[in-house]
Amino acid sequence: MYIMSQISSSYYLMKLYQQLSPEVKGHSLRVSLIMGLITEYMLNLQYPIPHQFGAKSDDEIISFSREAGSYHDIGKIEVPSQILKKSGELTEDEMEEIRKHTIYAERLMLPCIKELSTAEQPYFKSVLEVCVSHHERWDGYGYPYGKAGKDIPFFARVCAVADSFDAMVSRRYYSAPKTSVAAGEEILRCSGSQFDPQIVSAFEAVLPQVNRLLKYKRRDAK
Ligand SMILES: [Fe+2]
Ligand SMILES: [Fe+2]
Repeated sequence: MYIMSQISSSYYLMKLYQQLSPEVKGHSLRVSLIMGLITEYMLNLQYPIPHQFGAKSDDEIISFSREAGSYHDIGKIEVPSQILKKSGELTEDEMEEIRKHTIYAERLMLPCIKELSTAEQPYFKSVLEVCVSHHERWDGYGYPYGKAGKDIPFFARVCAVADSFDAMVSRRYYSAPKTSVAAGEEILRCSGSQFDPQIVSAFEAVLPQVNRLLKYKRRDAK
């Protein structure tokens, strides 16, 4: 039953994923890899990772974390590409439109989740939590709902760190990339304000692995 649920879940998510731009897909893949490393590290430390999707092993939890990372920006399907690809500084209205990708994820996925069986729903709801909440901040000043601390779902807190790191080290249309060292220092500086301190500690521990993996992926993509 669990395997059937995973096949159906993956098929549905894949159909949405195909609609993302190549840039967002690349970013999502890197976020997915970083989330997997953080989650694996925390599981090895026996950190009690909360989840409601019925995983029976650590491998299933790591696999879920990677999959949630792949789809975290799914709401960007609905953001006009001229805004996502704009090379100059974004206006406040454009920034607001980009922030709405969290809510758009809800709008895209929720009606379909309601059609799924009760066995499938927890997995999708957990993916959706990451899509909606990965821009919330530990101190409550994030968006879309201003959730704080552990009210933010665990995997969304992991995603927040992975997402911010990749955004800083990647060449974006509207800003120059930071070095991995500078981005790592910035993540550390924001521990306890923007990010969950325990997840930042795990991230800092796996940063050498992250660097090796991302360098490899980028060289591979040339
Ligand atoms: Fe996002
Ligand atoms: Fe992102």
